[in-house]
Amino acid sequence: MPTVPLRDRASWKALEQHHAELSGRHLRELFAEDPERGERMAAEAAGLYLDYSKNRVTDETLRLLIELARESELEERRDMMFRGEPINTSEGRSVLHVALRMPRGGSLVVDGVDVVAEVHEVLDRMADFAGRIRSGQWKGYTGKPIRNIVNVGIGGSDLGPVMAYEALRHYSKRDLTFRYVSNVDATDFVEATHDLFADETLFIISSKTFGTLETLTNAHSARDWVIGQLGTEEAIARHFVAVSTNAERVAEFGIDTANMFGFWDWVGGRYSLDSAIGLSTMVAIGPDHFREMLAGFHEMDEHFRTAPLAENLPVLMGMLVVWYVNFFKAQAIGVMPYEQYLKRFPAYLQQLTMESNGKHVTIDGHEVDYDTGPVYWGEPGTNGQHSFYQLLHQGTRLIPLDLIGFGKSLNPLRDHHDLLSANVFAQAQALAFGKSEEDVRADGTASDVAPHRVMQGNRPTNVLLAERLTPRLLGALVALYEHSVFTQGAIWGIDSFDQWGVELGKVLAGQIAPELVSDAEPELAHDSSTNTLIRRYRSLKG
Ligand code: F6P
Repeated sequence: MPTVPLRDRASWKALEQHHAELSGRHLRELFAEDPERGERMAAEAAGLYLDYSKNRVTDETLRLLIELARESELEERRDMMFRGEPINTSEGRSVLHVALRMPRGGSLVVDGVDVVAEVHEVLDRMADFAGRIRSGQWKGYTGKPIRNIVNVGIGGSDLGPVMAYEALRHYSKRDLTFRYVSNVDATDFVEATHDLFADETLFIISSKTFGTLETLTNAHSARDWVIGQLGTEEAIARHFVAVSTNAERVAEFGIDTANMFGFWDWVGGRYSLDSAIGLSTMVAIGPDHFREMLAGFHEMDEHFRTAPLAENLPVLMGMLVVWYVNFFKAQAIGVMPYEQYLKRFPAYLQQLTMESNGKHVTIDGHEVDYDTGPVYWGEPGTNGQHSFYQLLHQGTRLIPLDLIGFGKSLNPLRDHHDLLSANVFAQAQALAFGKSEEDVRADGTASDVAPHRVMQGNRPTNVLLAERLTPRLLGALVALYEHSVFTQGAIWGIDSFDQWGVELGKVLAGQIAPELVSDAEPELAHDSSTNTLIRRYRSLKG
């Protein structure tokens, strides 16, 4: 940790001063003063082109933000992560998702163990298993090949694999059906399985800890469902595999640990898509495509590790988030993929960003006196445009957006793709430049209506453009956001890799659950609202 607190750093103070001067300036002026701005303020890596020119920044802003990143020891912290040092201090763990995508033959020794060799051992086992499912060689209990794969997991053990499966569906084996069950709400399980037969269905129980209530509840229901249809516990071995770090619990559940794919406690749940947690994705797209995805991750890792800060995509994006959150007091960041296959990407990012940077103390335990992680959210364009973009254009809040577009569609059909892409550029343009009252009146709008039609503009966007959505590109895109989150967390001086905040709710739910099925008065320890709700629930339940 740097010794000088964040708000006392020289660069922070300079940024405050600079913000006071710049915040009144409009992107219209910044573009008018600098005709090359749109070409200059761009960076490129791993197949992703980032246009950040429509941000409320000047060269001076970027210079100061880089100074802030340096004063915050971003580079030192980044290098500590890549060396496998335990930077997740509250859990005493290394943070080594970057090792999951290091190429075969590479080496990273942590505590005397070459983790890269271990990673490739597991990847090879996954590839062998995926091959056997895809070829029909792996048979169910009655001898039928597997046609349906149901991943049971939650949080990072669901969002990563389901997002990647949806994103890469174009590359998937279409005669296999994939379903993802996460919610403890039985509807999720029932709807996912209602049209499937157990004799051709394989469950992948994905849980780092193998202790998560939702996942274990769904896994037990899956077990009952299989035994109910196939009539014997012996069927379990052919219809269940596990992905976990906890072999003991996997065995306790009744899954043969020979059918377990392991990973390590240095992989955080929300950073685990590229570990064995991605097994369902690998079965869907095949091992070669999965390895391509890992190569994309690695390419972005190397860019993050080595590129100068001023040209470093994740650093630029992370610093811009800090700029808006801490100086413009922005509370939310929108991510809008103009690519239908990325429809679960915003949901995936919500966990990645908010579980990582939703923290109120610094690494050394001091309450922060500045804002940290913003709310991340989004929807695929153009659907969002016909729903909530109104607030983005004319509301009172500043919500910076990332717009993600592609040069080529995976499903070229008539002029759909050009129309889709025109919207990426049009939205970025409208948000930045708006429409002045003068222009509105010049269109012949009546003066009483004119104020309603004024678009102030000056609303920032990043535009990310790539050629097409491939496994490799997806890897690079995810790694871009992972390292942007890292950059933000390093500047804020917080632990981006723990998630203690989710624990209290879990403990309380564990206490309340038995009370919902009891006739006794609710615990006195609860407040009067919780007690009343428990009583009301019981009477509704009947
Ligand atoms: O409750 C939060 C969390 O711990 C996430 O960080 C994690 O991704 C999820 O639960 C699932 O955990 P597990 O993989 O251990 O079931």
